[in-house]
Amino acid sequence: MKVTVVGAGAVGASCAEYIAMKNFASEVVVLDIKEGYAEGKAMDLMQTASLMGFDTKITGSTNDYSKTANSDVAVITSGIPRKPGMTREELIGINAGIVKTVATNLLEHSPNTTIIVVSNPMDTMTYLVHKATGLPKNKIIGMGGALDSARFKYRLAEALGAPISDVDGMVIGGHSDVGMVPLIGHATRNSVKVSEFLSEETMEWVVEETKVGGATLTKLLGTSAWYAPGAAVSSMVQAIACDQKKMFPCSTMLDGEYGLSDICIGVPVILGKDGIEQIVEIELSDAEKAKMQESAEGVKKTNGLLQV
Ligand code: LAC
Repeated sequence: MKVTVVGAGAVGASCAEYIAMKNFASEVVVLDIKEGYAEGKAMDLMQTASLMGFDTKITGSTNDYSKTANSDVAVITSGIPRKPGMTREELIGINAGIVKTVATNLLEHSPNTTIIVVSNPMDTMTYLVHKATGLPKNKIIGMGGALDSARFKYRLAEALGAPISDVDGMVIGGHSDVGMVPLIGHATRNSVKVSEFLSEETMEWVVEETKVGGATLTKLLGTSAWYAPGAAVSSMVQAIACDQKKMFPCSTMLDGEYGLSDICIGVPVILGKDGIEQIVEIELSDAEKAKMQESAEGVKKTNGLLQV
């Protein structure tokens, strides 16, 4: 399994690090446009191999896509991250051009690759990769729901005073401060609904803190987060590499599922060797359906700003 990570910034480097540490990939290529930067990150990471106990070979490349040839999975993290006070949607002008160029370059050397899109605004960038490449829809996956769900579980565990391993929950909808739909009504502690333990107010707090999870970190860090995004990507790549048939909420092109079409937005999918192997349609309450609809309207509005 060969994996390419485009962008050697904090998110890209974390992706490469976690993928290598899990030891399921033979090779990770990190590519960046900044001269020597990806090579430096790759060398630094490789010097952790004997200490951390992994055999994955990590190499760096300054914008030479021939080094990425025949990648099974390619992760696009390129573009600028948001600064405190910015929304993900405000990044569209700069990031759309970058993501389109990166996707085209990747496919020139790896026509059968599966692309995971991380760059923001993520749902719109995933839609752009569809429109710009014509890759089959199972091979284009947006990373947002896996991260947002991890943040949801973090807040649920905090509110419950429980270990994270006791908690399960999922966030669907757009990867934006207003568009996320944390499915609090489906969340459980060891298969018992969290509503058995938490008040309405606390559940509302969990939902709101989850939705602004990225913004909270951007405020604290001065730029957007990288550990949890990197870990979320590594879990998705692992599910594909190891054909795990694991369920994650991911941004995927919908064709009537959840009553939506011609949009990439977060819904539960099964990830395996063929990328998105199935879109899972779960029963939503009327309130959840309305939130999903509203979220889709937001994503479509951002998609409307694309020039493809
Ligand atoms: C975040 C970015 C990756 O939510 O969108 O941290």
